[in-house]
Amino acid sequence: MKTMGFIFDLDGVIVDTAKYHYLAWKKLAAELGFEFTEEQNELFKGVSRKRCLEILLQMGHITATQEQFNTWMTEKNEDYLAYIEDMDASEILPDVPRVLDLLKSNHVPIALGSASKNARPILEKVQLLSYFDVIVDGNNVTKAKPDPEVFLLAAKSLGVAPASCVVFEDALAGIEAANAAKMTSIGIGDAVVLHGADFCFRDFTQMDNAFLNRLLN
Ligand code: BG6
Ligand code: MG
Repeated sequence: MKTMGFIFDLDGVIVDTAKYHYLAWKKLAAELGFEFTEEQNELFKGVSRKRCLEILLQMGHITATQEQFNTWMTEKNEDYLAYIEDMDASEILPDVPRVLDLLKSNHVPIALGSASKNARPILEKVQLLSYFDVIVDGNNVTKAKPDPEVFLLAAKSLGVAPASCVVFEDALAGIEAANAAKMTSIGIGDAVVLHGADFCFRDFTQMDNAFLNRLLN
């Protein structure tokens, strides 16, 4: 087994796609006759597309047939894909490349551990795909965060023991998943929201190389 592995969530950690997910859900909610606020969108972070739609329909007190449900899931995703169509490297969150470069220069294996089924095309668009040795996303897992499945699968594919993995996450469900996997959890965002994280930084600009080097040693 290699010594250490680093696992990154995608949405909200590497790129700020939450705003595009929000716009697509907001559009669907409007079509269904109710308003969907940015505050409610917080509940959708780290949550699978299917689960998000279940929650959205509960919010709107709407019951759907399986066929309607599938149609709305497809519609939301098509709108989301239209929003991210022109995405490029300028949408990478601050200092993500510095952290990836530092890990690469230390020959540390890197994985993506995301709930999104659109992870691969997004990494391609922002030109970060080549940094990742392993990609585990919404297409590979059956259980959503806070279940640790996504991170355990990433660790296994990296050939690293879970206890030797470090996870970067912006969602509480993701921190809980990392903790359940017995990995080191690092919150990226609000420390109050991400309570339970082993460490928390507002964003990567607040995480210096000395901290990363301490993790590595
Ligand atoms: C997560 C996002 O990364 O992916 C969620 O935080 C999103 O908001 C989920 O619902 C699923 O994404 P996708 O791209 O498969 O609809
Ligand atoms: Mg996220």
